[in-house]
Amino acid sequence: MNHSSFKLAPSILAADFARLGDEVKAVEKAGADRIHIDVMDGHFVPNLSMGEPVIRSLRPVTKLPLEVHLMITNPDAIMDEFAAAGSDTFIVHYEGNNNLHRTIQKAKQLGKKIGVAINPATSACVLDAILSEIDLVLVMTVNPGYGNQHFLSFTLDKIKKVHQMIAEKKLACEIEVDGGIIPETASQAAQAGATVFVAGTSVFKSSLGIPAAMQALLST
Ligand code: DX5
Ligand code: ZN
Repeated sequence: MNHSSFKLAPSILAADFARLGDEVKAVEKAGADRIHIDVMDGHFVPNLSMGEPVIRSLRPVTKLPLEVHLMITNPDAIMDEFAAAGSDTFIVHYEGNNNLHRTIQKAKQLGKKIGVAINPATSACVLDAILSEIDLVLVMTVNPGYGNQHFLSFTLDKIKKVHQMIAEKKLACEIEVDGGIIPETASQAAQAGATVFVAGTSVFKSSLGIPAAMQALLST
């Protein structure tokens, strides 16, 4: 891969929460493009993770954009609070949102970037109507809810499809992939058209250490 065209968004879900500030500083120093923060409500996904206090605590620790992946039932209800805490980008799910465009508008009114995530079972076609309104598409390459799962290879065709849709519409929308990203799957996703890689376990839990692990993800 050509380093300059790909971006890494380390997911702090796999970090050591007792040393969270230092973990974030380490990935910033090693060249991360943004910090990926997984917010889970135990309802939209079967797990609980972190919320606004974590964003507020991390805001002074790093200059990197804080990208908040909202795996929650009612994202609109918490966006004001999360924006005030220092979120730069909201990623919301297509699934379960009956008024997705309202959520997109809300993020824009707050002056934030907006991404839309689609689960492995969701078709790329659902993005057609709103693609021109968003900054990024997050193709979930595992079912959301947990870190350290295996990359689902059947999502590669969907990454290609999203890439094609963005090219046809001549948009600048980014394609980000999330779940099971290791050097091999990052390379496959890149060939399919992804340019941003979310990686938790393969960054924070790697025996190589953070800088070498990040280097490995970008040079496969
Ligand atoms: C899964 C989360 C991911 C997760 C990725 O629901 O959205 O961001 O942290 O973890 P790894 O890289 O360990 O698969
Ligand atoms: Zn995520």
